[in-house]
Amino acid sequence: MAGEHYYTEEPKVPHDRRLIHFEAGAERYQFWTDRGVFSRQRVDRGTRLLLAEIEIPPAGRFLDLGAGYGVIGIVLARRAPEAWVDLVEKNRRAAALARVNLALNGVTNARILEGDGFEPVAGQRYHLIVTNPPLRAGRALVEHWMDQAYRHLVPGGRFYMVARTSQGARTLERLVARRFGSVVEAAKGGGFRLFYGERGERGDEEGGAGTPPV
Ligand SMILES: C[S@@+](CC[C@H](N)C(=O)[O-])C[C@H]1O[C@@H](n2cnc3c(N)ncnc32)[C@H](O)[C@@H]1O
Repeated sequence: MAGEHYYTEEPKVPHDRRLIHFEAGAERYQFWTDRGVFSRQRVDRGTRLLLAEIEIPPAGRFLDLGAGYGVIGIVLARRAPEAWVDLVEKNRRAAALARVNLALNGVTNARILEGDGFEPVAGQRYHLIVTNPPLRAGRALVEHWMDQAYRHLVPGGRFYMVARTSQGARTLERLVARRFGSVVEAAKGGGFRLFYGERGERGDEEGGAGTPPV
């Protein structure tokens, strides 16, 4: 991917599509991947940790932010058939693959939305928002997503993030704690940490420990 990042909107590198296989619990999945998209050889280790440890509500509205070729959103949709899952992805090549992968894995309770962050889901509220964020795109973007995640959660909803410890996961945990009032480290392993913030039941717009109580 010389000169290009996996989060490029319109990758120019030549295609090299391949089918990869993935098992999560008792379930088997297949994903088309390509050059110019994140983790094309195999499902990322951070993503695996997230999928192994996340608590998935049986129903509700879920958001997979920065969905890549769709692995997180597709696994969530298959595990919670009563839920609805929105997958948002900016990289057109990845979004197109995710659309194909939905059908390939028999998922009908989800949709792919091409676009930037929360823009395609403005005004929507979710019970679960999940991301393996594009840390290479910069911390400012990830902090913005934390802030927006809080605003797009229903009271009691959770925002899960997985990040590499060497890429500042502990700092990100502290930022989640500041935004949400507290943070829970759900798992760590293989150099990654999985953590979540939960939106308080009070449901105020600003929330978070950084905001004085009204
Ligand atoms: C670390 S990858 C994770 C991909 C996938 N969720 C996975 O676990 O394999 C982050 C993804 O976020 C996407 N991304 C980067 N900036 C974005 C933005 N502003 N809006 C939406 N997606 C974005 C990238 O293209 C990339 O696919």
